[in-house]
Amino acid sequence: MKTVLSGIRPTGNLHLGNYFGALRNFVEMQHEYNCYFFIADLHSLTTHPTPENIQGNVKSVLAQYLAAGLDPEKATIYIQSDVPEVIELYLYLNMNAYIGELERCASFKDKIRLQPQNVNAGLLTYPTLMAADILIHKADFVPVGKDQEQHLEMARTFGNRFNRMYNNEYFTEPQAFNFGKELIKIPALNGAGKMGKSEGDDSTIFLTDKPEVILKKVKRAVTDSGPTVPNQPMTEPIANLFQLMSVVSKPETIEFFRNSYNDCSIRYGDLKKQLAEDMIQFVNPLREKIEEVMSNEKYLSQVTEMGKEKAKASASKTINEVREIIGFRKY
Ligand code: TYM
Repeated sequence: MKTVLSGIRPTGNLHLGNYFGALRNFVEMQHEYNCYFFIADLHSLTTHPTPENIQGNVKSVLAQYLAAGLDPEKATIYIQSDVPEVIELYLYLNMNAYIGELERCASFKDKIRLQPQNVNAGLLTYPTLMAADILIHKADFVPVGKDQEQHLEMARTFGNRFNRMYNNEYFTEPQAFNFGKELIKIPALNGAGKMGKSEGDDSTIFLTDKPEVILKKVKRAVTDSGPTVPNQPMTEPIANLFQLMSVVSKPETIEFFRNSYNDCSIRYGDLKKQLAEDMIQFVNPLREKIEEVMSNEKYLSQVTEMGKEKAKASASKTINEVREIIGFRKY
């Protein structure tokens, strides 16, 4: 059976980008694949080195995974820091990761722009920790959004380099995966860039947002002055609103607004109202479920313990084999 793995950093509530980039694929895949889904709390230290409430954040992300439909009996759902074998593999991979390639990584360049006061070695080696996450369970598929494509490429590079260096075929090549075939980018509401925590709360729709909040955010979404000639190419902010519609609205709704854009009769106010309504329809049941799961402390800790056991069993097997390949004593 093929193995699937992905993770999300617990630096805030999950948003539509997380859902459509990663989580939804999992919910569908857990029945047919050997699935690992984890909470990347170690990665979150690269940007939040002194987290105020890491356990609370982890718990709330876990509740959001479960509310979205991940089944702890089927998938292995775990917390990254519960599996220190990952950190050992990270260290070995770092020995074969070159500063130049790490510095060229787009997310590193973004991060040093965003946090010039904290350009730490963890940020630089973020892709090797991510490669360790993936390789520790020898994942075949990694459901992610477009923004993680380069990290996946680096995971393949590090795995292949390990194989060449120690003259074997130990690690398999992980492939980025999305059900829509193309990796997806869910845009922000501010007219440019991707939806995400760093875009600011106003341009990101969280799975925990109440209807009135969604309505307010979508109403404020950036648009343009409207099409003036039939079939005019869309500007980025408008194309983004249609991209958002494509994940939450019915095909006939999208068709209607596309036609009215093409014949210049579109009213952006109507488009936004419809988009907000469809987002609310989508988010509401998830939000209610999140609240329900969050209140069940006992269940959340049972899930955590179960995931830890299963993830450690797979990870310690790999780390023992890796130690042997490198030439160390096994545990
Ligand atoms: P993170 O926490 O930034 O995002 C988690 C997942 O959500 C996807 N995503 C998006 N997809 C489409 N459109 C968006 N606007 C959008 N925003 C976020 C991301 O592509 C990702 O799949 N490095 C990872 C966490 C990680 C990981 C791993 C993932 C650590 N180790 C191993 C896979 C495998 C990250 O920062 O995700």
